[in-house]
Amino acid sequence: MSIPLLDLKAQYLSIKKEIDKAVQNVLNSGKFILGPEVSKLEEEISKFSNTKYAVSCASGTDALLLSLMAFDLKPGDEVITTPFTFFATVGSISRLGAVPAFVDIDPATFNINPDLMEEKISGRTRGIIPVHLFGQIAEMNPIVKIGKDKNLFVIEDACQSIGAVSFDKKAGEAGDTGCFSFFPSKNLGCFGDGGMVTTNREDLAAKIKMLRVHGGKDRYYHDFVGINSRLDTLQAAILLVELKHLEEWTNIRIKNAKLYNNAFKDIDGVTLPVIGRNKYHVFNQYTIRVKKRNGLIRELEKRGIGFGIYYPLPLHLQKCYRYLNYKKGDFPESEKAAQEVISLPVYPFLSDDMRNEVITAVKDYFGA
Ligand SMILES: Cc1ncc(COP(=O)(O)O)c(C=O)c1O
Repeated sequence: MSIPLLDLKAQYLSIKKEIDKAVQNVLNSGKFILGPEVSKLEEEISKFSNTKYAVSCASGTDALLLSLMAFDLKPGDEVITTPFTFFATVGSISRLGAVPAFVDIDPATFNINPDLMEEKISGRTRGIIPVHLFGQIAEMNPIVKIGKDKNLFVIEDACQSIGAVSFDKKAGEAGDTGCFSFFPSKNLGCFGDGGMVTTNREDLAAKIKMLRVHGGKDRYYHDFVGINSRLDTLQAAILLVELKHLEEWTNIRIKNAKLYNNAFKDIDGVTLPVIGRNKYHVFNQYTIRVKKRNGLIRELEKRGIGFGIYYPLPLHLQKCYRYLNYKKGDFPESEKAAQEVISLPVYPFLSDDMRNEVITAVKDYFGA
């Protein structure tokens, strides 16, 4: 049996009737740009995230970019973030001419280590972007405190963590803004690209709303130089349907993760995902660490089992960042994680047989 890392067709087929109806409604309405479903989704996401406002946009990348633009990030400004993340976190900083100031991760959770943050703060530092990797929120309490004490903005990269909770705060609730991606592989994924910014600050919500339509409130009058970054009405309609199923799907992800944990807990050579104190992890990825990764990869490939390596090369070592003059060894925990991580299929439409086959493959490989 071939087992994909993710099966989006199975997801669609499970809610086909509802989706087809929602899409047909939009097609009949002709309101393809910023139609009523877009405002409805913004309302629903702000409720879901316990924030006063939610502003949709074209992608998670743009949610980050628009947040940084709302803070008027300038060339030469510095933003503290992790080198162990998807490229977009850091790319959005450098696209504005600003400089990523990397801080290593906590090896247990893969999230940025707040204890190492203060030594990275300079006179040019403007803000912090913690990333809630794989479905678990970073240590927001100390991060928000550092932000307050040092007058820095805090933008949560919550692209992988919709619905996650940390100390009673939802993803996107604790920071100045929270950035979400609706890329199809996310727990709430549309049928293309999409994104959202959540915030409790009226000024930021209003500015981001303008920035996403070329910086103007009234058409053809521009207060800022913005971009074109809107969520399609069709995608919003699809997301409204999916949002009704998100809790149920997240629960199945969590159940799958628990069953994997139980099966792998005694395997020498496998480190299970760690759930931090007071955290609700939504398992966008089920990521283990293994010592002999190449061998496991070959075994999974041989058996037709999908997997992902998120991420094989930390961002401080990427070719495009050579100008920052970082070198190997600068962020040892991120570099070690990049060598050891492997993510296994955890999506809600994985059958018991499929999950058991993944378990058998891992156990066989380690002789457990
Ligand atoms: C951590 C992280 N940040 C940013 C993004 C960018 O989101 P998008 O692909 O919607 O632009 C993603 C998702 O791909 C992500 O996983």
